Amino acid sequence: MSATIIDGKAVADRMQVEIGAGAKAFQDKFGFPPGLGAVLAGDNPASAQYVRMKRRACEKVGIHSDAHFLTADSSQQEVEDVVAGLNADPHIHGILVQLPLPKHIDEERVLRAVSIDKDVDGFHPINIGMLGMKGREPLFTPATPTGCMVLLKESGVKTEGASAIVIGRSNIVGLPVALMLMKANATVTVCHSRTRNIPELVAQADIVIAAIGQPEFVKGSWLKPGAVVIDVGTNKVDDPNDEKGYKYVGDVEFASAVNAAGAITRVPGGVGPMTITMLLANTLKAAQRIAAL
Ligand code: GUN
Repeated sequence: MSATIIDGKAVADRMQVEIGAGAKAFQDKFGFPPGLGAVLAGDNPASAQYVRMKRRACEKVGIHSDAHFLTADSSQQEVEDVVAGLNADPHIHGILVQLPLPKHIDEERVLRAVSIDKDVDGFHPINIGMLGMKGREPLFTPATPTGCMVLLKESGVKTEGASAIVIGRSNIVGLPVALMLMKANATVTVCHSRTRNIPELVAQADIVIAAIGQPEFVKGSWLKPGAVVIDVGTNKVDDPNDEKGYKYVGDVEFASAVNAAGAITRVPGGVGPMTITMLLANTLKAAQRIAAL
């Protein structure tokens, strides 16, 4: 039987309409819109593309965005000075430091420099710490993991008591999504490059979050029948049949997984649109929160 498709694009579109209404209400009340400050250091083309997409989405929902482009050889101080300027700017409510930063920059120091009230990426160590602790709630949670959790909820998936497996332990996705699943009372296994028996572990899981960055890594034959599969991967692979010569595939082999899973996201059109939407939602929340302080 073929799995239900979890349509991230449809959920994202619906949420963006609500965020747009919230941004308009904010603008009407305060005379200026919610604002996002983006910091991009270096010339990583994928990062530049992400920042462009995030800014375009801001424009669509009526959030002001202010981008700061720094060269790859910028100093630690220069990056932190831009963050300090955004912290002090009353028209900026959220700060996005696009990762990865150039190798010589101390990422942790930059993320720590972001005002916790404007930490719409949820990467400040205090927010991540609170995400991991029982009985504590972070002000903001990272966009991609939040998008995964919203898709699970929207699909009616019960996390309580479910067995969830997260494949990948990155700071941006794997680790925070594992913490969020734990907060949602799932029993969580985290796999990574040194894990020996990934297929056997996947076979036990009711929920599979694939965030390992390897094209079509997870095979349909590994899945417990009926498992819910959230594919975070966006891997560019050669495709001679495509006029561009490439296409994007996820971390899950969709063609086999769709026959084993109960529900599954597509790539593209699954988690991707949710990531940007969660950033917009966090920026609106930050603006409303700051206005109420
Ligand atoms: N790089 C890849 N994903 C992300 C993200 O969600 N936020 C930031 N700041 N950088 C990223």
